[in-house]
Amino acid sequence: MAIQWFPGHMHLTKKAITERIKEIDVVIELLDARLPGSSANPMLAALTGAKPALKVLNKQDLADPARTALWLAHYNSQSDTRAIGLDASMTTPAKALIDACHALAPTRGSMAKPMRVLICGIPNVGKSTLINTLTGKRATKTGDEAGITKVEQRLVLADGFYLWDTPGMLWPRIIVAKSGYNLAASGAIGRNAFEEEEVALELLDYLIPNYPDMLAARYRLDLAPGSTDEQVLEEIGRKRGAVLTKGRINLQKAAEIVIYEFRAGTLGRITLETPAEYAQWLAAGQKLDAERQVKKDKIETNRLIKLKKIPRPPKASADGTGGA
Ligand code: G4P
Repeated sequence: MAIQWFPGHMHLTKKAITERIKEIDVVIELLDARLPGSSANPMLAALTGAKPALKVLNKQDLADPARTALWLAHYNSQSDTRAIGLDASMTTPAKALIDACHALAPTRGSMAKPMRVLICGIPNVGKSTLINTLTGKRATKTGDEAGITKVEQRLVLADGFYLWDTPGMLWPRIIVAKSGYNLAASGAIGRNAFEEEEVALELLDYLIPNYPDMLAARYRLDLAPGSTDEQVLEEIGRKRGAVLTKGRINLQKAAEIVIYEFRAGTLGRITLETPAEYAQWLAAGQKLDAERQVKKDKIETNRLIKLKKIPRPPKASADGTGGA
């Protein structure tokens, strides 16, 4: 599945962050607690340089608490980084955010030296909801379609504490295949950019070994050892009455049920990746990406040689010194 998405306003965000970052003390990155690795923006680190970072694992009410603890420990072990969990049920999240920012930049936060914080996050991670709670009003529009926040705004969270909001942003290329599926399952990617059946199968492929009891309980499944994602999707369809003529299962409908119930938390509190798993996927994705790049470079070099735009490289001689 190729999910590649970089609409124009994301370019604008990149520019806005680059311009704003010079006067920022702490960068808050809102992550989805169900997929912290996949919902992070690899571009952000490059844009924000060595600024102290606060990772907010949002929607923790939907995530597996034991795994949220793993991710918090993972981030808190990194230098100049702190992490906290948050969700929309917290009526006063400002205190947790302000305290964490003060810990990261202890000299800032007075009227003379205000704390200047930038908040970023991929679409649908809950940024508008959080900002509404922080400001106590419907300052930004929330909704389930990716990327609703479009213009930068400055909010005063407390005396001497300013928060800059940036529009939602994804990255230009998803190099970890599993991240594409996890983002699609979470609702971060517009529904026209993926096939529900494919995403539901990937989701089940992860849930079967990792959360078998939740699956069995929700869909009254009798999971035989070695059940495949296809078999489980069919069984869910059958159990939910998603049946077409001649008893065929409506797999599209079954897939929609699984994805919807994962998103809504009806399936249970689930996290789709651990720090160790994500590190493995990332390493494999980067390796594949590097190999692809080498292939692409080779094709481009051959094309230029054919067009005689660059000279053919000298053939290596027997003694390995290169020939004429
Ligand atoms: P964004 O600005 O980052 O794009 O996200 P937004 O706040 O619009 O939130 C996206 C969806 O996530 C919304 O649901 C919102 O209610 C939900 N959400 C935000 N924070 C949390 C949280 O901590 N826990 C849970 N469970 N959900 C959260 P929606 O169904 O798309 O819209 P609606 O419910 O607001 O109508």
